[in-house]
Amino acid sequence: MSCFPCSGSSGKAGEDAAALSPSPRPSAAKPAPDRSNSRSSSSVRRGGSIPHGPAKIFTFRELAIATKNFRKDCLLGEGGFGRVYKGHMENGQVIAVKQLDRNGFQGNREFLVEVLMLSLLHHPNLVRLIGYCADGDQRLLVYEYMLLGSLENHLHDRPPDREPLDWNARMRIAVGAAKGLEYLHDKANPPVIYRDFKPSNILLSEDYYPKLSDFGLAKLGPVGENTHVSTRVMGTYGYCAPEYAMTGQLTVKSDVYSFGVVFLELVTGRRAIDHTKPDGESNLVAWVRSTALSYLPSVLV
Ligand SMILES: Nc1ncnc2c1ncn2[C@@H]1O[C@H](COP(=O)(O)OP(=O)(O)OP(=O)(O)O)[C@@H](O)[C@H]1O
Ligand SMILES: [Mg+2]
Repeated sequence: MSCFPCSGSSGKAGEDAAALSPSPRPSAAKPAPDRSNSRSSSSVRRGGSIPHGPAKIFTFRELAIATKNFRKDCLLGEGGFGRVYKGHMENGQVIAVKQLDRNGFQGNREFLVEVLMLSLLHHPNLVRLIGYCADGDQRLLVYEYMLLGSLENHLHDRPPDREPLDWNARMRIAVGAAKGLEYLHDKANPPVIYRDFKPSNILLSEDYYPKLSDFGLAKLGPVGENTHVSTRVMGTYGYCAPEYAMTGQLTVKSDVYSFGVVFLELVTGRRAIDHTKPDGESNLVAWVRSTALSYLPSVLV
């Protein structure tokens, strides 16, 4: 699945992320307890996190060596930005290297936003950007390696030899992903709207510990009296909040809608959009609405 642009202009590349402060948002009253950070550092490590340092600048040669020259057997997957390879650094660190496809839909803007956003945003439920490479016309992003791949790989694109996710794992993934969103919406200053919440962007480390990835579409949220930001509609079909798709007015609630869609996928095992299903069932949200309504007593409908 890939992201879709609609019409209108999206502003200057990176201007959003450049305005982002890494400090937590000040609160008028006593700050709410930071539940998302309440895990002990050892349990954070269990999720596969390594302490944050500044993003490292890599040469293309270093990343070519790490991925055995981008060999096919190192390929982890491919998305709208390009291919993702598993690599090994000289110090033994395992990494995931995402190489921009120069003929693809996404480009320099997403690369820049991703580097700026992930250099400033740090949370156990956000994937860690180790560094990047902007050598000549090559653009590569280097992330911590996520052992269990994406939620999409476990929920929908599951190889026959892989067990389905059990209920506890599904709930753990939902809670962790929600904490990642909560950090972006309520702790980052100004708030960040992720805009691309979907199973392929929820990566899993050991124990199905989830981390949000792909910040190329992220946008700074409204500040002060403003209720929304106006922007060209971007996202993935099936996950995009209808009111945002219709008006271009983006709020943090647009992410909450996408979260709801993924939550329905987790509990039903169905895809957000599935054209192999009969009419009336291909759109998960519409199907759940009609099914749920049929269970409600008629006085409530
Ligand atoms: N840090 C990582 N560790 C391990 N695997 C990864 C990592 N990042 C990406 N992958 C794998 O590569 C695949 C492709 O990721 P990518 O983000 O490029 O595309 P996508 O999310 O599938 O599609 P889209 O372009 O619509 O976001 C993922 O589904 C996942 O299996
Ligand atoms: Mg992705």
